[in-house]
Amino acid sequence: MNNKNILLGITSSIAAYKIYELIRLYKKNNFNVKVVVSNNALNFVSPLVLETLTNEKVYCNQFEPRVEVEHIGLVDWADIFVIAPISANTISKCAQGFADNLLTSIFCAFLGSKKPVFLAPAMNKDMYNNPIIKENILKLKNMGCDFIDCETGFLACGTQGVGRLADIELIYQKTKRLIYQNKANNNKKVLISVGGTKEKIDSVRYISNYSSGKMGIAIADWAYNLGYDVAIVSTIDFKRNYPILKVDSAIEMLEELSNQKFDYLIMAAAVGDFRVEDVSEYKISKENIGDCFELKLVKNPDIVKTIAKNKKENQKIIGFCLADKELINCAQNKLIDKNLDYIVANDVKTALNTDKNKVTIIEKSGRIINIDLDFKDNIAKKILEVVCD
Ligand code: C5P
Repeated sequence: MNNKNILLGITSSIAAYKIYELIRLYKKNNFNVKVVVSNNALNFVSPLVLETLTNEKVYCNQFEPRVEVEHIGLVDWADIFVIAPISANTISKCAQGFADNLLTSIFCAFLGSKKPVFLAPAMNKDMYNNPIIKENILKLKNMGCDFIDCETGFLACGTQGVGRLADIELIYQKTKRLIYQNKANNNKKVLISVGGTKEKIDSVRYISNYSSGKMGIAIADWAYNLGYDVAIVSTIDFKRNYPILKVDSAIEMLEELSNQKFDYLIMAAAVGDFRVEDVSEYKISKENIGDCFELKLVKNPDIVKTIAKNKKENQKIIGFCLADKELINCAQNKLIDKNLDYIVANDVKTALNTDKNKVTIIEKSGRIINIDLDFKDNIAKKILEVVCD
């Protein structure tokens, strides 16, 4: 158990049906969840399903016989109050300080308690664009509530536009950041490179490697959870709350990374050492070639070494080393050659395309830190604890 308590409010919006999946994600990751619903939300979700998923009673009625003052007891219990979806009606009530049902009473007390409040709106596009709703959202933001913006797309009312509930995975990720973040990290930028580079052969083929990018993504996710300002330059496409700058080749990766400011650069990408000298604009046809086909490869620039040449004093650069023999020796040489502050050494046998890994971190000073075999998610957190002070 991680012993963190999430109080989840559900209000009356058709998007409420998606919240079962959010609860499943919270529970799968060992968060304790209690649910409070507005009366109208019961048109869209079933208390039986909510109780089964959370293993807790569902709170709704402000005036049912009880032994404790529920809205205060729940505020004391929770580490965060997430309202997803929050309707236009509840946004406006919250912004005006109304406490006319159990959910809005809890909100009222929660805002006063200074614990994090996280709101995920969902509504029709014209309601979302209504200046009163916009003003109320701004008012709540100014009072310290965190929001996740609505998505644009097909809406349940049959129209197209802004107003969809944000992606459930992104709501989950942002909840974790609001629980774990150290606000002192908000102004520190962690830049991470992720994935194996793709070096083009022709218009349809490329040379790459078996890197899954899992380690780099796990580091980026934890850096985000801990409150850092995160950006990644990645050969893999996926959805997160932090910016993902998509590249393919080593040259593109160097260009993109060079354009970014950073306090910490974590070079987790598996960069191809070589690229094809003459990339064909068209698909190479085997009909025009005999039984043997030769490709001339030229060396790619060493990205981290190039960037480290202009490193500022307050910047830290962390590289990775993957080898199957003489790992520590090899890592120590690379640390010096590339002018790194830390190098994370991984064994080919444990690192590639797996969920678990074990690593050795070597500091410029020569200090060695061993991290035992663990899930990449836990390894990522431990790496950040060592390299980002
Ligand atoms: O030299 P080697 O590839 O073993 O070094 C690994 C480290 O250097 C990794 O951090 C990798 O991202 C980085 N690297 C790089 N540019 C290259 C090759 C590797 O930045 N061309």
